[in-house]
Parts: sequence; C-alpha cells; structure tokens
Amino acid sequence: MKPLFKIVVLISARGSNLKSLIDKAHNYQITQVISNKPDAPGLEFARRAGIETAAFARSEAASLLEHKRQIYAQTELAVADLIVLAGFMQILEEDFVEQYGGKIVNIHPSLLPDFKGLETHKKALDAYQRYGAVRSTHGCTVHYVEHTVDSGPLIAQATCEIAEDDNIDSLAARVLEQEHRLYPWVINSIASGGIQIQAGKVTLSPAARIEGRKLGFRILD
Ligand code: GRF
Repeated sequence: MKPLFKIVVLISARGSNLKSLIDKAHNYQITQVISNKPDAPGLEFARRAGIETAAFARSEAASLLEHKRQIYAQTELAVADLIVLAGFMQILEEDFVEQYGGKIVNIHPSLLPDFKGLETHKKALDAYQRYGAVRSTHGCTVHYVEHTVDSGPLIAQATCEIAEDDNIDSLAARVLEQEHRLYPWVINSIASGGIQIQAGKVTLSPAARIEGRKLGFRILD
C-alpha cells in the first residue's frame, strides 16, 4: 500500500483553516501542528483530534532568528511531504524556503496578485467602493511559497462577490468559507498527485482540473 502523504501545519492563531484541513483529510495525514505562539487557540483543534503539537514562544528565544530556527528544526523533525502554512504570521527565512522548494504551500485571503500583505478585505472593499462592479470579485488563493511575502506559483483560487452592504467582517467571513473549501481540496489533490509542481510550474491532472472547475474554483496552471 502507498504510504500516506504526511503534512505538517504551521499556525499562529485561530486555526479555522487547520480545522477544515483536519475535518477534510482524505488523502493525507497531519502528523504535527506547529505554532509560533503557544497560546494560539487553533492548537486546541489539533489536540482534540489527537494530533501532536509543538509551540515556541518568542520570549523564550534569544532573538527572532533563533525563534525561527527552533520552528524550522521542529518542522524538519516532523519529516513531512508538505509544509502547510495556515495563518502562519511569521516571514520565512530564505534558506528554509530554498531547502523545501516546492514543498511549502500557503493560503492568502485575496485573489493574488491583488492585495498582497495584510488588510486584504479592507483593500478589496476600498477598490470596490472606488471602481464598482469591475472590482466586485474577491476571494482567496492557494500558492506554493517563494521567499517574497505572498508570492510563488499560484495553484487555485476560490471567489465570492462583494455585496453593497458588506463591511470588513462580513466580507472576511464570506472569504473564509471559501478558504475552508479550497485549502483541503488543494492539499488532498497534491497528496493524491493530481496537483504537482516541477521546475516552478504547477500542473493539474485532467481529473483534478475537472473536479476543481466543478467545485467552482479558478484553476491557474
Ligand atoms: C486566513 O484568512 C488565511 O487566509 C490567512 O490568515 C487567516 C488565518 O485564519 N493567511 P485561521 O487561523 O486559519 O482561522
């Protein structure tokens, strides 16, 4: 039997994407959840599911770099096939990203390349208020990670429409629903071999492409 595809999930706070990854794990096994904040509420989802956790307090490390190194050493120990960033709010060091080239994915709450960085929902609302219907589509993106923040080969996106009476919270909630659909689908597809990356180029098998489109996702290979 083919060994189960192993993933390690890195979080910093709420962990709702982690929860969706736990609930919808079909082709992969989450071997460990690592947090850069020991009080991250999301760790509880892992504990309840019987998944090993590890957390590192910034205050216990001599420097930010040492703090990052502790997290990287722990990630290495987890020996995963894929490192899944799910609301992990710490910029990765370049050598770590290089070491795991093509083996780190992230979810970002905007339709990249639009609105990198923070406050994506505010930026989307501002654009909608300024330009109207042409900027009424917002959503989330799953991508492989390169060193620059929120960059790297895009895999797929899930969209939603901005409503006239939306505020940041209502829009964030609508995007989050899409995140919880998109991220497990992408990770299950990577685990089954339906999504691959080679020499920086993402490819989807015909079956994965059909399935993704049926689910309403934007396929970006
Ligand atoms: C999500 O919106 C994700 O796209 C972004 O950070 C947020 C994390 O939320 N990278 P949660 O911790 O998964 O609930």
